Amino acid sequence: MLAPLLLLITGCRAFPSSTFVEAHARSSGFDSTAQYIDVTGAHRYVAPGPTDFRGPCPGLNALANHNFIPHNGTVALQNSIDASMQVFGMSPVVATAAGLLGALYAGNLADLSFPYSIGDTPPTTILGGLLGALGLFGPPQGLSHTHNQFESDSSATRGDAFQFNGNGYDLQMPAFVELYNRQNESSTANYDRDVIFAHRVQRLHDSKQQNGRFFYGPVQAVFSSLTNLLVYGLMSNHSTEYPDGILSNDLLKSLYGITGPNGAFVYERGTEQIPGGWYRRPIDNPYSATGVLTDLAALTLYSPETAVFGGNTGEPNTFAPLDISGFTQGTYTAASLLEGNNLACFLFQATQLLLPLGLVGLEGIALGLLDQLIAALGDILAGITCPELAGVDSSMLEQYPGYQDSSHPV
Ligand code: HEM
Repeated sequence: MLAPLLLLITGCRAFPSSTFVEAHARSSGFDSTAQYIDVTGAHRYVAPGPTDFRGPCPGLNALANHNFIPHNGTVALQNSIDASMQVFGMSPVVATAAGLLGALYAGNLADLSFPYSIGDTPPTTILGGLLGALGLFGPPQGLSHTHNQFESDSSATRGDAFQFNGNGYDLQMPAFVELYNRQNESSTANYDRDVIFAHRVQRLHDSKQQNGRFFYGPVQAVFSSLTNLLVYGLMSNHSTEYPDGILSNDLLKSLYGITGPNGAFVYERGTEQIPGGWYRRPIDNPYSATGVLTDLAALTLYSPETAVFGGNTGEPNTFAPLDISGFTQGTYTAASLLEGNNLACFLFQATQLLLPLGLVGLEGIALGLLDQLIAALGDILAGITCPELAGVDSSMLEQYPGYQDSSHPV
C-alpha cells in the first residue's frame, strides 16, 4: 500500500491525450447485411463446460459461448477488443480501454498476447506462472477477482462482493428481477436509456442500504455506471422499425443467461446467449467515448446523486461523501463538478491518476500497457477542455472500509 501522501503523478501524462479522436457518429439507418450477427455454424451457441471460465461480464461470456473469443474463456487482449467492436459495436477507444483494464488487472503480463481469464483464476499451467516471479500480484487472477479494481459494487445485476462472500461476479436474481420488472411483458417492452437510468439509481440505493462496505470511489463510479449503460448501449437489437435499437424482455433474459417464466426465473452461470436474428448497432455509430460521456452527463442530470462519490463506513446506510475539494486539491468542488464538462473531466482524470497506484511495480512491457491505458482514458476526453488536475489525495479513500477490500489495495 502506498503511503498516504498527496500524490502528484507524472506531469508527462498530459490531459487530454489524444491518439485518435472518435467522431460523434449518428445512426444512419439500418443495414441488415452489415449489422447482422450470424450465430449459426462456427458461432452457434455452445454452453460452457465445467472447466470453461465465465465471469462478471455478460458480453464477454456471450462472446465465448458463441466462439467469437475462445470458448474456454481465456482471451488474448486484442481478441477481446476486436470481438467487442465487431460483434457488439463498442468503439475502438472504449473497447481498448476495457480490454487493457482486463489484461492489466486480470491477465498474464508476461505473455506478449496478454491473455486473461474472463472468469475465475486459471491454473498456472494455462496462463503461465511468471507474474509471481515478476513481483506483481501473484498468479493472473481472472476478471472475477478484480473487486474494486474493475469489478465494482452496484452493478446492474451482479451482487456486491461483500454481501455475497466475495462473489461479485454472479447475477443475483433480485437485482435482475428489479431490472426486468421495469417493463411489462409486451412486444413494445424496451429497456432503453431511461429504464437503465432508473435501475442504475435503484442499484446505488440498494448498495447504500444493504452493503456496509459499499465503496463508490471515482474509478468505481465510472466502471459501474458505464457497465450499467452497456446494457442498453450494446445489447439492444436493431431493425428497420427500430434503427436505434430495442431491448425486449426475451432478449434481456437471453443475454443474461435466464430461462423460465417471470416468477420462476432460472439463472445458470455463464450461459449468456445471443439469440438468432440479432442485429448489432449501426457500423458507423458504435458506442463511443462521446456516447459514454453524453450518457454519463445525462445520468447526472437525471440523478445528481450518481455524481456523489464516497462509501459506507462499515454499516448499511452510513454513506459518507468524499470531500471533492480536498481530494482534488481545490481543483474541483462538489458543486463545480455539476458544471459544464467538469464531471467527465474529473472522473477520467481521477481514474488516470488512481489506476497506476493499484498497478505499482509494473516494469517494461507491462508498464507500456499501463501507459496505453492512461492514453486510452485520455482519448475519452479528447476534444474537451478540462481544468488541470495535477494530483489526488488518495489517502482520503482510506476512510472507507470497502476501499480496503480491493483485490489489490492501492
Ligand atoms: C474487452 C472487453 C470487456 C471487458 C474487459 C469487460 C469487463 C467487464 C467487467 C469486469 C464487468 C463487471 C463490472 C462491474 O462489476 O460493474 C463488466 C460488466 C458488464 N459488461 Fe463487460 N467487458 C467487456 C466488453 C463488454 C461487451 C462487448 C459487452 C456487450 C454487451 C459488455 C457488457 C457488460 C454489461 C452489460 C455489464 C454489466 C453486468 C451487470 O452487472 O449486469 N461488456 N464487463
